Amino acid sequence: MKPRLGVNIDHVATLRQARGGSSPDPVRAAVIAEGAGADGITLHLREDRRHVQESDLRAIVDAASVPVNLELAVDPEVVAIAVDVGPANCCLVPERRKELTTEGGLDVAGSPERIGEVVAELQAAGIKVQLFLDPDEEQLEAGARAGADGVEIHTGAYANASTAADARAEMERIGSAAFRVRGLRLRLHAGHGLDYRNVVPVAQIEGMEELNIGHAIIARALFDGLGGAVRHMKRLITGDMVGSATD
Ligand code: PXP
Repeated sequence: MKPRLGVNIDHVATLRQARGGSSPDPVRAAVIAEGAGADGITLHLREDRRHVQESDLRAIVDAASVPVNLELAVDPEVVAIAVDVGPANCCLVPERRKELTTEGGLDVAGSPERIGEVVAELQAAGIKVQLFLDPDEEQLEAGARAGADGVEIHTGAYANASTAADARAEMERIGSAAFRVRGLRLRLHAGHGLDYRNVVPVAQIEGMEELNIGHAIIARALFDGLGGAVRHMKRLITGDMVGSATD
């Protein structure tokens, strides 16, 4: 079994929010990602709505033919939106207002009842629920007890390892966690900080079902597309081309 690729389009919304307009459109990004083979679209509706908006979630659930995976905190307002919109999957993540991105996994061992209630509420709406957890045995077992359908293993420490030895040690932790997740009969996903250099060993873990990747893909897209975008603008300015409707 090959893992599915969930493409996280949050950064497209970040760029749009920088100007406060409607471009670039995350829905268009989702459609392009799907056309290029993405097996799912992932987006994070944060409490502070700093990038993705509720309207993006609704539009992407309508536009995508592949499953949509909503990342969200245990926050009553966002949970109510998830229940109302009904994406195929939700991934519960911790959220701190000042963080640049999700730092560390969810502490399900620290608040199992509250997280268990939210898991049950989302599942009652027909949504499969993953918990975003560090590769830590205690957290994985608490996640299973909370009734989650699966675990997304946080690969940030592996991705940020500064030496090859540290990366190997983190990979071993992820491998053991993956083995435990399979033993608990939970869905096995992973993500955070995965890029074109570090993804292969994670993709090769036995039983890995899904990888959710955002930053590296959107960053790569800029450079893959920048030359063509400049050439197009240059042709418009020099009159070598009739205007095109795309932004
Ligand atoms: N999975 C989860 C739960 C996340 O919070 C994020 C970041 O939004 C990702 C995956 C994607 O991480 P990255 O953008 O580093 O690929």
